[in-house]
Amino acid sequence: MTSADDLSSRMSQTQAVAQSFGRRARDYTRHAQLQQHSARTLAAFLHEHGGLPAGPVVEIGCGTGLLTELLHEPGRPYLATDLSPEMLEQCRSRLGDQRQGLSFAVLDGQTAAFAAQPAAPPSAIVSNLTCQWFADPVAGLARLARQTPLLAFSVPLAGSFPEWEAAFADLGRSSGLLPLPDERSVLAALEDLAPRRLVQRVEERPQHFPSAKAFADSFRLIGADQPRQGYTPAPIRPVLRRFASGLDATVRILYCLVMRDGL
Ligand SMILES: C[S@@+](CC[C@H](N)C(=O)[O-])C[C@H]1O[C@@H](n2cnc3c(N)ncnc32)[C@H](O)[C@@H]1O
Repeated sequence: MTSADDLSSRMSQTQAVAQSFGRRARDYTRHAQLQQHSARTLAAFLHEHGGLPAGPVVEIGCGTGLLTELLHEPGRPYLATDLSPEMLEQCRSRLGDQRQGLSFAVLDGQTAAFAAQPAAPPSAIVSNLTCQWFADPVAGLARLARQTPLLAFSVPLAGSFPEWEAAFADLGRSSGLLPLPDERSVLAALEDLAPRRLVQRVEERPQHFPSAKAFADSFRLIGADQPRQGYTPAPIRPVLRRFASGLDATVRILYCLVMRDGL
């Protein structure tokens, strides 16, 4: 593949992700239980470690505002951004235009360059369960961390949903789930960004689903069902049978604060 082909395939993947979330934006909040949980956990983790520093905050992939509503305080400049205009619109209508300091912008977090803006770089960049959608999550997180004194994020990790992956492995296939970033690679890339320190925690959270369909719906109903690149759908009857009486699917979530020294 040439680098032009590579760029165009990344762009169409990014567009497909935006459209997939956009189609589900209206009902997203109702179905996003895991995102609600991790938004609360990330906000509490941040609070335990000193909270947000004074100054402007940028949120990457705000969705309908589950983290935004926990972190934004009236008067603080807070830019809520998302790749999907429909998600952003839901965020605006849920949180209201009148919150002092809160503004909205469509933005691709993989390419966002705050240092190049005329305004000062953000005092903090925050993000909940979004950076796994970047073409290269490890490089994307490191890129964001370089642009701010504090990056606070959560991201699901490789090794999540082992029960589901095992069912496909037994069929000699891989599932269509998005490949997730590896914990050691993420932490190593961020540890390399001296002078900064990391505070992190990994949560293993089992979730019960009454059937394989209910598990698949937990992605589909929030628009997170864009399959991994190169996935060719094939019958999954044996997987449906295997989980006919339910499925416990464990997600691994990294909560991480990357702080410039002195913060
Ligand atoms: C699983 S949702 C999480 C939304 C929100 N943070 C929450 O906790 O509910 C992922 C969000 O990331 C957005 N997204 C995906 N890729 C993105 C990118 N490259 N830049 C910015 N946002 C992105 C999607 O549009 C979607 O709103």
